[in-house]
Amino acid sequence: MATYNLKINGQTKQVDVDPATPMLWVLREHLNMPGTKYGCGVAMCGACTIHVNGSAVRSCQLPVSAIGTSEITTIEGLSEKGDHPVQKAWIELDVPQCGYCQAGQIMTAAALLRTNPNPTDAQIEAAMNGNLCRCGTYLRIKAAIKSAAKQV
Ligand code: FES
Ligand code: FES
Repeated sequence: MATYNLKINGQTKQVDVDPATPMLWVLREHLNMPGTKYGCGVAMCGACTIHVNGSAVRSCQLPVSAIGTSEITTIEGLSEKGDHPVQKAWIELDVPQCGYCQAGQIMTAAALLRTNPNPTDAQIEAAMNGNLCRCGTYLRIKAAIKSAAKQV
């Protein structure tokens, strides 16, 4: 066990965990933040995507010991009122079906638009490629990213 002071969504959170514990489980089990989802556990689905210093990262394969002073953002902290341009576009275009993959989709999309506010179709496809959706909402996701791109 070790003690970590983690910067999450603008606050410092202290946890006492095994250094190898993936951030996914630190968030869900130790910090009561269940918005980040467990899909595959092996970095293949994107359901667990969070931001580390603004970049999209799979939290299921990210040990807490690797975080250090990095700034973590989860779906709970992406915006104060659920009004990030990506979240607004998701609502506007009614993107989710079952919803399970959507936090990860939104976090990946937000990270894309942060570095590339006007992505091409190919750039959207490349960025979102690793985020799987069993419900097949891919076309609405792409449309929502394009809509959000006009607002960032
Ligand atoms: S749960 Fe992390 S990529 Fe699937
Ligand atoms: S909305 Fe159901 S898995 Fe994506």
